[in-house]
Amino acid sequence: MKIKAIVGNITELQIEAVVVNLFEGVKKPSGATGAVDQALGGVISGLIERGEIKGKLGEVSLLHTLGRIPPERVAVVGLGKKEKFDLDKVRQATASALRFLQKLGLKHVASILHGAGAGGIDRKFSAQAIVEGGLLGLYAFRKHKTTDPDLGELEELLLVERDESRLPEVDGGIRLGRVLAEAANFARDLVNEPANALTPTRMAEVAKELAERYGLELEVLEREQMEELGMGALLGVAQGSEQPPKFIILSYRGGKDSRDVLGLVGKGITFDSGGISIKPSEGMGEMKGDMAGGAAVLATLKALGELRPRINVTGLVPATENMPSGTALRPGDILKAMNGKTIEVISTDAEGRLILADALCYARRLGLSPVVDVATLTGACQVALGNVCSGLFGNDQGLISKLVGLGEEAGERLWQLPLYEEYKEQNRSEVADIKNSGGRWGGAITAAQFLAEFIEDTPWVHLDIAGTAFLEKERGYFSKGATGIPTRTLVRFATALAEEKQS
Ligand code: BES
Ligand code: MN
Ligand code: ZN
Repeated sequence: MKIKAIVGNITELQIEAVVVNLFEGVKKPSGATGAVDQALGGVISGLIERGEIKGKLGEVSLLHTLGRIPPERVAVVGLGKKEKFDLDKVRQATASALRFLQKLGLKHVASILHGAGAGGIDRKFSAQAIVEGGLLGLYAFRKHKTTDPDLGELEELLLVERDESRLPEVDGGIRLGRVLAEAANFARDLVNEPANALTPTRMAEVAKELAERYGLELEVLEREQMEELGMGALLGVAQGSEQPPKFIILSYRGGKDSRDVLGLVGKGITFDSGGISIKPSEGMGEMKGDMAGGAAVLATLKALGELRPRINVTGLVPATENMPSGTALRPGDILKAMNGKTIEVISTDAEGRLILADALCYARRLGLSPVVDVATLTGACQVALGNVCSGLFGNDQGLISKLVGLGEEAGERLWQLPLYEEYKEQNRSEVADIKNSGGRWGGAITAAQFLAEFIEDTPWVHLDIAGTAFLEKERGYFSKGATGIPTRTLVRFATALAEEKQS
């Protein structure tokens, strides 16, 4: 979809539809919506009066203008209650308006900058949120459909600004919104892709394509190199699969000091059958998305390659399948991770923490700091928080607060869970240094506590996205399937760190 800012008056555009808005409870619309209402002889306020338009978040009311003004249609989208208004409401309202107009088969539409008037939002942020909401909301995974969609796609979205001198701000918002949303959609494509297509080898190829396109540095470690490095935990998980494991190291270099590098680590299990501790067959297909953390890391590097902030970032993605076979890891086996710590395998289905253990050791070896890891790690996190927010853990409260704030702004909410010492007890093994399952209770926490043993004193945050990476049904501007969470938060985190380093 083409998106651009234009200077003009929404009531005078010759276009298939214009999108205006309404806060819930407002009887007499003002601003752009008020101007359209007036030009149409009070139709909108009349419908509000009769209770047909309420302004509830995401509600869309379509009016045909029948030649009274140049736009052929007016879509009034609800922004919800003014007290609850924020940028995420702009994303949600835009997604529902554009989905609605696309379903009508329209191609060219325009929108006002929601919230930039009465909502008190900066027009740059409004434009950014509209673009994010639009591109995320219209996303569909159609790659493997050989038939055409029932309806065409929206081709163009114009953002209408009244003041010519403010156009550069709007353009800036559009650009950032597009980079963020396209990166998230890139992650979604990888997560939605089935495991027969997205193998560890294919994931490494995707990283190579990014490296070539954006001038990133790439190194892919093969099984032999993992053996030399002593990555016994990652190799243990990989040993049951016919697919060779790949350890992807993708770096963006934009900072002055080459020793100062942000580390992003993403779980890259391209299919999690559970291994010998095999999962129930129902819903197992969703485990094609068990590389969502790795996808978000690759997508973040793509966005950084486009935005080019002044910071160094290295992404690490240990990629492998978790399969049962005659060569597979067994419950009871003991593995040795790269830092020499031994791990008793209680469940081969707790494979995420095994591959991350070696990846976190490798992050330390490279001296990356801070380190943020992202993983669809535990069903327990999904049970605790559902699909509304991801679990967050860490050893550095400043870092944690920063990420929580950025996640909130991005509409990718993060909720901190504790890492109290007492939970470590559950991971204690009688035969090795640690075991890979702490049992049912507090499962998301004991998994995070396990990771903490391998990142040691490096400033670190762990995001458990098991509940948020993949949705069973649509939620807001996220369609069913992959969400791309937490790509937009990670990109903003990296650019925010870059800005801090400049000042
Ligand atoms: N990939 C799963 C976690 C998961 C569950 C992600 C649901 C997305 C949706 C992970 O590898 C796993 O199987 N975890 C086990 C750990 C247990 C055996 C200690 C779990 O949560 O059941
Ligand atoms: Mn598993
Ligand atoms: Zn898994």
